[in-house]
Amino acid sequence: MGKVVLSGKGRRWVEGGHPWIYGDDVAAGEGEAGELVPVHAPDNRPLGWGVFSTHSKICVRMVTRSADQPNREFWLKVVERAIRARKRAGYLDAEGACRLLAGDADGLPGFVLDRYADVFVVQSGCQASDRMRDFLLDLVREVIDIPMTAVLDRSDTGVRKLENLEKHTEWIDGTPRETVLVKEGDLQYEVDVIGGHKTGHYLDQRENRLLAASHADGVRALDAFAYDGLFGIRAALAGAESVVCLEQSATSIERLLRNAKLNGVEDRVTVEKVDAMTDLRRRAIAEEKFGLVMVDPPAFARNKREAKGAARGYLELNRRAASLTEAEGHMVSSSCSYAVRRDEFQDHLAAAVREAGRIGWLEHYTGASPDHPQRLNLPETAYLKCAFLRLD
Ligand SMILES: C[S@@+](CC[C@H](N)C(=O)[O-])C[C@H]1O[C@@H](n2cnc3c(N)ncnc32)[C@H](O)[C@@H]1O
Repeated sequence: MGKVVLSGKGRRWVEGGHPWIYGDDVAAGEGEAGELVPVHAPDNRPLGWGVFSTHSKICVRMVTRSADQPNREFWLKVVERAIRARKRAGYLDAEGACRLLAGDADGLPGFVLDRYADVFVVQSGCQASDRMRDFLLDLVREVIDIPMTAVLDRSDTGVRKLENLEKHTEWIDGTPRETVLVKEGDLQYEVDVIGGHKTGHYLDQRENRLLAASHADGVRALDAFAYDGLFGIRAALAGAESVVCLEQSATSIERLLRNAKLNGVEDRVTVEKVDAMTDLRRRAIAEEKFGLVMVDPPAFARNKREAKGAARGYLELNRRAASLTEAEGHMVSSSCSYAVRRDEFQDHLAAAVREAGRIGWLEHYTGASPDHPQRLNLPETAYLKCAFLRLD
């Protein structure tokens, strides 16, 4: 069995609560790819157990601060705790969808499991989650009372390269399916589990879409960076007079149109295949106005180095969005760049509203849905910010 001894700085880091240990903070260590290893202080005092990576800069991800080696019972408890939290939050209705296991945020390094009705999609992002995949899926089967009719392993994210892992997508159980139909209250939508973004859908925006829709009744709404249209369709279901969606991906647009039809709002939801940044500028110059403007772009910064360039992007995008929002209307602006902190994003919004010559009030400032838990002491899990502004 491998073992890791930390430097003094590494010890302080672990005792400070962050579960990731970088290679620079390891004084001596060895282990197999994804192996569970004991972690020790420089004086050999046990600090807990973590999973080892032979390749990543994150050399160890701590899983417990106890000296006892994690066993099957330990992992079962971790899985049960995560699934119980989804159940309590009302996410386990048979036809619905949710993130069941949110990787490091749930204490399961690199292991993400999303559920779309009875279809489960695994996304593994590190050596340990590859090694533990089948074991963890067996524990989920033991705990959950929803049939796991089909299981897809969609381990195709870029982070795998950092762990020297190949990308792959394979059905590991059940009959392959391309799309799954999900029902979420009065909303229905199609999920492309093979080719869609993430594991097929942006589950993290569920509550934010509902809150945005509470401002939609009787207004013209704009949904920029719409993906398959669920901010816009939610707004239409809540009584928006009309919704314009902007999206550049042709496959997302096709699904958006099918989703609009499924929900019976196709007469009020239109979509334009455009570069949203350019189109928002064109509309702002034309002095168009909407009662509800929703902008949810892809991450502008993938790391701290890119945060400065991202600041300009967020300022420009939100200045255009603010110009398009009518007096006493609402603007809902998201950022999924974890490298841009909440206070920084709020500063970008304040500058954008000011430069648009408007006055703004921050009515709500939320994050991801509760099935994407934000783990304290692991700031990387606090990636999504969603600001609800009223503008005059
Ligand atoms: C974060 S996702 C939006 C998620 C969506 N709002 C939802 O709730 O499911 C960003 C979307 O913006 C699209 N996109 C990226 N750059 C774009 C651009 N310049 N113009 C239009 N759409 C763009 C992507 O194809 C993707 O669907």
